[in-house]
Amino acid sequence: MNKRAFIKSYGCQMNVYDATRMADQLRAEGYAVVDEADGADLVILNTCHIREKAAEKVYSELGRWKGARGASGAPTLVGVAGCVAQAEGEEIIRRQPRVDFVVGPQSYHRLPGLIREAEAGAKPVDTDFPAEDKFDHLARPTRRAITARGVTAFLTVQEGCDKFCAFCVVPYTRGAEVSRPVAQILDEAKALVDAGVREITLLGQNVNAYHGEDKGRAASLADLVDRLATIDGLARIRFTTSHPNDMGEDLIAAHRDQEKLMPYLHLPVQAGADRTLKAMNRKHTAAAYVELIERIRAARPDIALSGDFIVGFPGESADDFEATMEIVRTVGYASAYSFKYSPRPGTPAAERTDQVAEAEKSERLQRLQGLIAEQQRGFNRACVGRTLPVLLEKAGKREGQLVGRSPYLQPVHIPADAGVIGDIVTVAITAQEGNSLFGVRADAPETGAPPARSEAA
Ligand code: 5AD
Ligand code: SF4
Repeated sequence: MNKRAFIKSYGCQMNVYDATRMADQLRAEGYAVVDEADGADLVILNTCHIREKAAEKVYSELGRWKGARGASGAPTLVGVAGCVAQAEGEEIIRRQPRVDFVVGPQSYHRLPGLIREAEAGAKPVDTDFPAEDKFDHLARPTRRAITARGVTAFLTVQEGCDKFCAFCVVPYTRGAEVSRPVAQILDEAKALVDAGVREITLLGQNVNAYHGEDKGRAASLADLVDRLATIDGLARIRFTTSHPNDMGEDLIAAHRDQEKLMPYLHLPVQAGADRTLKAMNRKHTAAAYVELIERIRAARPDIALSGDFIVGFPGESADDFEATMEIVRTVGYASAYSFKYSPRPGTPAAERTDQVAEAEKSERLQRLQGLIAEQQRGFNRACVGRTLPVLLEKAGKREGQLVGRSPYLQPVHIPADAGVIGDIVTVAITAQEGNSLFGVRADAPETGAPPARSEAA
């Protein structure tokens, strides 16, 4: 019987992508990759270091695996991957001796060798930024594995960050910006689409700074999107996450001209006061961000925006926080993530003596999240009565339903007999509940679904 491997991922979408690549590696080594932790012969925790809570999760989770054994009765092999692995290395094994190996995000192509060393009783730690490109060494996913993951896929095109925002660990855990070559990305995208993928989300810690090699020249993210758009069968392209200062004119124009690029943009500003932005080393003002949003909206009027915010950055006054509330009101987000500032070891902001009190952070977060939730509800409500193209992704939670996504990433539920997974169907939105939309097909349904409704209905 095959040995069983279980991978649990925390944090961002890039970790989700990395987990799929690790799973492909393990399958090539003869493992069955399973969704159930119990009885696993190998467990990999793919960790996140972005905030203290995320980083601490790994240690409480590791406690669970102390006495674990695989189906064969041998002790479960426990590995720590991801950004905590990169940031803490050896320290993880010192703190939790149950851990058998540690592997960073740039060296997981060496997983098979590390597993063999760990099985032999060594406790290898590999947090190198190797000279070789891990993507040249990773196992390719099988067609079956791709199909099993569904009709949407992530594809990492850029890693690392050179921006050094004062709060952020990413430049340390993921290293300097590196862009994958265009040909390598096109190859991977074609394999995904061949196996049934209809939507690809291009990932990078600073994805719009992408500058990959293309036949001896540097291609921008807009160039890459155009190249990907030529793949027949690929219907939708998204990218995340972006820095305002890398939002080039060609990328703004792509939102106007490139039909396959979805009108939804995650463009974090983090805070609304210029003095906070300066202290965060964001290298732009609030006004510059608002002006940029205006230009993007001029190019693509129906674009929906999403963002990230940090409250309680060191030195943030009550007035500074009000400026964050104000920029949220000015921009109007379809959705946004917001966090209390969490001091991270090794980052400049963690050294500051003017940290904001926890209670103050909590209060600010609550107010900000209230405002964001209100905007999100408003955005979702405004979709009722519209017709939207929906990519059907999977069976809904309730029987007789299929669920897909609108261009704005909202889950949309329709009667199951009204379409097939992988299709993009036109849906008249009839109702909204929380973040979900409900509707019926408005384009020639092949079934007995209710008649089409017009956009004006
Ligand atoms: N504390 C709180 N939030 C943070 N983020 C990044 N670093 C920190 C930190 N130290 C947030 C930012 C970023 C998102 C991924 O996480 O808003 O955009
Ligand atoms: Fe977490 Fe950042 Fe690492 Fe993603 S890149 S896992 S968000 S620390």
